[in-house]
Amino acid sequence: MQNDEIPPLSGWSEAELDQAFAAVALEVEDSAAALRSPEQFRLQWLGRKQGRLKAISDSWLKSAPADARKAIGQRFNTLKAEIERRLELADSASPHDALDAEAVDITLPGTQRKLGAEHPLIRTWNEIVSVFQRMGYSVGAGPEVETDYYNFESLNFPPGHPARDTQDTLVIAGQERKPLRDRLLMRTHTSPVQIRTMEQQPPPVRIVIPGKVHRNDAADATHYPIFHQVEGLCVDANITFGDLKGTLDFAMKAFFGSSVRTRFFPSFFPFTEPSADVQISCPFCGGSGCRKCKQSGWIELLGCGMVDPAVFGLVQGKQPGYDPKKVSGFAFGMGIDRIAMMKYGIGDIGLLYSGDLRFLEQFV
Ligand code: DAH
Repeated sequence: MQNDEIPPLSGWSEAELDQAFAAVALEVEDSAAALRSPEQFRLQWLGRKQGRLKAISDSWLKSAPADARKAIGQRFNTLKAEIERRLELADSASPHDALDAEAVDITLPGTQRKLGAEHPLIRTWNEIVSVFQRMGYSVGAGPEVETDYYNFESLNFPPGHPARDTQDTLVIAGQERKPLRDRLLMRTHTSPVQIRTMEQQPPPVRIVIPGKVHRNDAADATHYPIFHQVEGLCVDANITFGDLKGTLDFAMKAFFGSSVRTRFFPSFFPFTEPSADVQISCPFCGGSGCRKCKQSGWIELLGCGMVDPAVFGLVQGKQPGYDPKKVSGFAFGMGIDRIAMMKYGIGDIGLLYSGDLRFLEQFV
């Protein structure tokens, strides 16, 4: 039925009237379903001048015989009530419609953001540090741009000492006019923070210092001009080499698993006496020999030793408590990169610094 056409009544019997009114009721229902605003619907059906209900009733009543008017009038009242009911419904529903138009469909998938992951180097760094924290060690830090004094001299590397050559130092340019001890360089190890720590606080000291170090090394599968170390220092009355062995043995078992064994070999570092290199039994093959330990069953992991009295002597000027007659201590240093590479089976140290997502995604 066209909206503007008014259908003629086919007759005035009850059945014919019912059919005609049912058709109009359907039309009301359709226009309610297509409704844009309740006001538009009201004007369309109930408007006093142009409302469709008035037009239909005028047309049908005009042509009706007098005895049919009552029956027609009753049906118009019912129809009008129905239109008003729908109008009321639409009025109360409209605020929700407005909200519906703005609503977010929470069933849509949403924007996918890639999960980040801890870098294998940082993960290893944190794991090593936390082993020592659980043993009561505090955690320190120091500058990466260091003076010759802290990086070498205070650690008992005198000027011209051959041990300096082993460190492949990167120096900051244009420092020649300064006295050697004040010249700046990129620290080659975390050991200078031992001295900085002792100058800052009296004994006892138990501290680990993780950090980045720099050396003039050409990059290959196991070398990179940047790498990382964890330094350890313990100073108190009556600290012995037995304490050093027990501490490192416990730490290696905590980190690699309780079946790992340690062994100590004589070595040399200018700032410790005696000095030792520490090996652990291969955590991969249990010591029987495999590719990771080059069939030897052992892996060399760190350097350590008893703090040289000469080092305490240099600190004493600033902290008198470090009297080598009253305190003793041990120190150790290990490479974080090497441990991470071993733990995660990484064959090329450069991968740790490449930022290559194909490598990093494996650690998510
Ligand atoms: N600083 C040494 C290096 O980079 C490692 C080291 C050896 C640190 C012995 C220590 C230590 O604290 O006692 O080669």
